[in-house]
Amino acid sequence: MSDPIRFYYQGKVRELNNVAPTRTVLQHLREDLHCTGTKEGCAEGDCGACTVVIGSLENGEVSLKAVNSCIQFAATLDGKALFSVEDMQQPDGTLHPVQQALVECHGSQCGFCTPGFVMSLWGMYLKQEGKQPTRCQVDDALSGNLCRCTGYRPIIDAAYRMGELPRVEFDRAALTEQLTALKRDTMAVYSAAGATFYAPRTLDELAQVRAAQPKALLLAGSTDIGLWVTKQLRDVGDIIYLGHVDALKAITESAGMIEVGAGATLEDAYAAICKHYPEQLTEMAQRFASLPIRNAGTLGGNVANGSPIGDSMPWLIVLGAELMLRGPDGVRAMPLEDFYLGYQQKDLKAGEFVQAVRVPTPKAGVQFRTYKLAKRFDQDISAVCAAFAFRMDGDIISDARIAFGGMAATPKRAAQTEALLAGRAWSEDTLKQAMAMLAQDYAPLSDMRASSAYRMKAAQNLLRRFWFETRSEQPLSAGAVNAFAMRAEGEAA
Ligand code: FAD
Ligand code: FES
Ligand code: FES
Repeated sequence: MSDPIRFYYQGKVRELNNVAPTRTVLQHLREDLHCTGTKEGCAEGDCGACTVVIGSLENGEVSLKAVNSCIQFAATLDGKALFSVEDMQQPDGTLHPVQQALVECHGSQCGFCTPGFVMSLWGMYLKQEGKQPTRCQVDDALSGNLCRCTGYRPIIDAAYRMGELPRVEFDRAALTEQLTALKRDTMAVYSAAGATFYAPRTLDELAQVRAAQPKALLLAGSTDIGLWVTKQLRDVGDIIYLGHVDALKAITESAGMIEVGAGATLEDAYAAICKHYPEQLTEMAQRFASLPIRNAGTLGGNVANGSPIGDSMPWLIVLGAELMLRGPDGVRAMPLEDFYLGYQQKDLKAGEFVQAVRVPTPKAGVQFRTYKLAKRFDQDISAVCAAFAFRMDGDIISDARIAFGGMAATPKRAAQTEALLAGRAWSEDTLKQAMAMLAQDYAPLSDMRASSAYRMKAAQNLLRRFWFETRSEQPLSAGAVNAFAMRAEGEAA
């Protein structure tokens, strides 16, 4: 007996019974519901043409977030509300201020990207609650939308203009009531097209279904898995969906530790951790993919996927983060760096899942930085990602922790360079020896993002940058380091 998937769309409860669990929200909208306003550009979360807003209940409060419908599975909509560009027209037939502003500011030419921009802007409109956004907030809200013909300036103008038009309030109370009526207290089991989709509600239900179905795929925010289906055309089989386990989204703080539930979104997780490391992590948080990806993707998914070019692992490793892994025999803790056994191989036993990531708060005397090198500021995967945490005793390095992404088959520490640095003065001479030693720790690959030689040079120069920013004699600000690097490049040319 299969539970139906029930969600709100255009004021009605929709029910899915025979739709494959991996049919995407975008396919369902366009091909099943014939609502073709939402567009497909890339089918991999990169262009934003497919952006929709998903409403859900989180601890009794309505949350409304822009996500990429091309990589979200329709089965995950159970108990939620879906909003697409078709919802924007007002009951009297007039345009929503978001749309009106785009018209007035000439923010659309061919129009292919426009529905996605409308939904990202609406996400910001709801969040701002009538306050005008800053340029930084506008850029962040639009970080996942590409336009290839209008150009961004008129669209950014519209982002300000919409706040000057008569406000259209969203009825959160009505949505709360609608979603409360759809809420389930126990696990839903949905079967269609030969696959089963389990959606547990509690940690215990999750642990039980994980133990009973060790081969089923754990699905969190779908920002990696979505692409396995849409790009690699993989049949992923049965799925255990983590998105309804509220306890997995909790973020708590105790003495010296931030515990982030594996199901907390990247947006929420980075916000909580950045409060403790504002100077060191805010840029990484902004540069992690785009807002719609961070609204869906989870920190647990980032570490569990364990891509060698993922952005969270290097800094989590140097800070000494640990994983809480839950399995049939209870919970075990493990330093994150021990989790990665080889390319795509992790120390996750049958029946286990990542329950939480524990991140230490700042420690006195530790200099910490993390840097991402990619071709674009937003929405780009790192060619090299570096993290350094040195415990300093005056000018002497008492303990050095260095980890890189993009330099090996897993996120990896630089054991030999760390050994060289321990007990040494943090001088230019030490820096030069450490830069050379990195070549003993890593033999990076060449691929479409960067050549092996580029990666090695970049890694060494990131260590130099860390030295500039943390040396005891005249440390340089990040801006000054950038200016120095540009001057050096100019001289070399
Ligand atoms: P899912 O796709 O749901 O799952 C990923 C993997 O983790 C699967 O193997 C799944 O089984 C496993 N898993 C998930 N949760 C658990 C758990 N609790 N226990 C055990 N296993 C689990 N990554 C970066 O690092 N930096 C970027 O800048 C970046 N940019 C991106 C841009 C785009 C356009 C896209 C599509 C992806 C990008 N990513 C980036 C990759 C992706 O967003 C992250 O890896 C994300 O954190 C994955 O989380 P998720 O919740 O979506 O995982
Ligand atoms: Fe490009 Fe979804 S179609 S992000
Ligand atoms: Fe044509 Fe944006 S208006 S791609």
